[in-house]
Amino acid sequence: MTFAPFTLAVGLALIAGTAAAEFPDKPVTIIVPFAAGGPSDKIARDVAEALRKPLGQTVIIENVAGAGGTIGSARVARAAPDGYTLLVHHIGMATAPALYRKLSYKTPDDFAFLGLINEAPSVLIGKPTLAATNFAELRTWISANESKVNLAHAGLGSASHLCGLMLQNAMKATMTPVPYKGTAPAMTDLMGGQIDLMCEQATNAVPQIEGNKVKVFGVSSAQRLALPALAQVPTLAESGLNGFNVAVWHGMYAPSNTPPAVLEKLNTALRAALKDPELIKREEAVGLTVVNDDRLQPAQHKKFVEAEMVRWSGVIKAAGQYAD
Ligand code: MLT
Repeated sequence: MTFAPFTLAVGLALIAGTAAAEFPDKPVTIIVPFAAGGPSDKIARDVAEALRKPLGQTVIIENVAGAGGTIGSARVARAAPDGYTLLVHHIGMATAPALYRKLSYKTPDDFAFLGLINEAPSVLIGKPTLAATNFAELRTWISANESKVNLAHAGLGSASHLCGLMLQNAMKATMTPVPYKGTAPAMTDLMGGQIDLMCEQATNAVPQIEGNKVKVFGVSSAQRLALPALAQVPTLAESGLNGFNVAVWHGMYAPSNTPPAVLEKLNTALRAALKDPELIKREEAVGLTVVNDDRLQPAQHKKFVEAEMVRWSGVIKAAGQYAD
């Protein structure tokens, strides 16, 4: 049997329309491009839980870690554009294109933008046995030890890497970077004393600071943390690193070419999830701000990421950092 092109096109559109109308009729998977137990993983799991009701489906987390989040991102860029494979990723979405000479995907072209999720402050933390008790003492110790000082990060392009890079530039110090597949395994080594320092998102750092499992030396983003227990911790800018500001954010993405009706359902569900009082309470408890502005609109989310790409590519180029 043969079909006229017009009939075929109408047929395909009808099939796509029906699929979108039924979406989602099976569990949705969110890829987290870092190890389980880290900040991106926590945020994705909290959002997955809150999405369950508005989507009417189970939302599963799959950790696809490595290469600063680019392996998991590539997986989503190449996934079937049907709304069943999504990505929750952080600032690495905007920094990887400048850091990696060869990326198997293109940002923003290979993704559909679903909305910004949160803003996450970061802190500079150290192993509990460090003698320094504040940033000035830490700085003196770093100057005396330089490359003997280990600085953990979650791979090139990760938030911890970016922050560590900025820190070394601002301090004019060269420490030894140690890459992990996420900051969760790095945190274990930091608490155990195998690693000296790490920039980490408040998400995972706050419980360890409160439990005296790590030492905190400063807030790497522009404002002090809004948590009463940590309000006394100065920003790195206040401690002499003028203008220092590495703040992290997370967003949700689908592969490009996902049908508009599916994207709209996902965006509506994400907006509902981010209004969930339980989710807001959980995020605020670790110093995060859940987004509640026009960056929840896909077009504004995309614009925001594009602006971050421009901002960070200048910084990364100036620092002369590249990876293959
Ligand atoms: C990072 O440093 O980029 C993140 O903390 C990675 C992670 O979520 O593990």
